[in-house]
Amino acid sequence: MPLPKNAYISDVWKDGVFDNKVVFCTGGSGTICSAQVRALVHLGANACIVGRNVEKTENMAKDIATARAGSKVLGIGAVDVRNFESVKKAVDRCVEELGAVDFVIAGAAGNFLASINQLSVNAFKAVMDIDVQGSYNTLKATIPHLVKSAAKHKSDGTTPSPTGTGGRIVFISATIHYTGLPLQTHVSVAKAGVDALSNSVALEFGPLGVTSNVISPGPIGDTEGMRRLAKGEARKRSEAAVPLGRYGSVKEIADATIYIFSDSGNFVNGSTVVVDGGAWRMQSGSSGSGFVYPDFLLSGEEVTGVAGLKKSKI
Ligand code: COA
Repeated sequence: MPLPKNAYISDVWKDGVFDNKVVFCTGGSGTICSAQVRALVHLGANACIVGRNVEKTENMAKDIATARAGSKVLGIGAVDVRNFESVKKAVDRCVEELGAVDFVIAGAAGNFLASINQLSVNAFKAVMDIDVQGSYNTLKATIPHLVKSAAKHKSDGTTPSPTGTGGRIVFISATIHYTGLPLQTHVSVAKAGVDALSNSVALEFGPLGVTSNVISPGPIGDTEGMRRLAKGEARKRSEAAVPLGRYGSVKEIADATIYIFSDSGNFVNGSTVVVDGGAWRMQSGSSGSGFVYPDFLLSGEEVTGVAGLKKSKI
């Protein structure tokens, strides 16, 4: 469904700023990543989004393409970031059909609520594999193209490159590992790894002009994650605990992406842009879900009533 511009991008950016550029995005059919890609497409980019679900990914690609007449948006399904070959094949197809990979959004992630008692070794591994190994696979498959793009689109910081920017990757992380958060051990450990990966990429590929940064969204309304985690009274309490008094919008994450990928982000490398209304500074043991700390853990109960729940064996 075509979205009104103000649902996914602010008015402050210049149309055409990403003309002739290509963005490759994992997790691109998700609520946050699709908004990021839609914003880049609106500003001129073509895009390739990949995901596990074929229908969802292809439909989202068609939907994102409505952001700009004449845009090309490839949706490649049956791609699991845990499988390097499947990511590499998608990247090759992106380059063959769209001509390059100038920007990468490593957004695929796994999430659910579970205490350590409830979290099987396989459940922990599933999230590590998607978030950490999946981000590394995405990096390895795209980095040769990012290096090429960075060499082609250099900026000295004062004179903008006549062909714009390129050679930039952002990893989508979180803030929960800054403090730790009960029921989110798997995600905390994985996202700490994602942050470390981005920092290393910044150091090793900065000399080649590639930038690597992290965007860490706080609670963003209407995402699959928040729909799973916070409902009713629990949601009201969790919104009130954000210093800015509300959940964020996907548009606010899209804007941060444009900041990093465009001329405004030329000197931003090895950084984390936290977009959370100040929320992580108020993180106090609540997963935003109504499971009261520490009572819930002491009760020995299991997490129930949360969408996406699966019976796990330890
Ligand atoms: N609580 C506890 N354990 C859970 C769980 C939950 N809510 N959901 C899944 N698991 C366990 C499974 O029981 C399994 O462990 P087991 O073999 O010991 O039983 C393990 O996690 C793997 O689950 P499975 O469904 O086989 O893996 P998958 O690869 O199909 O799914 C997940 C990966 C678990 C991360 C799944 O939630 C997912 O696909 N998420 C992607 C979408 C998403 O999370 N989006 C939000 C992004 S913020």
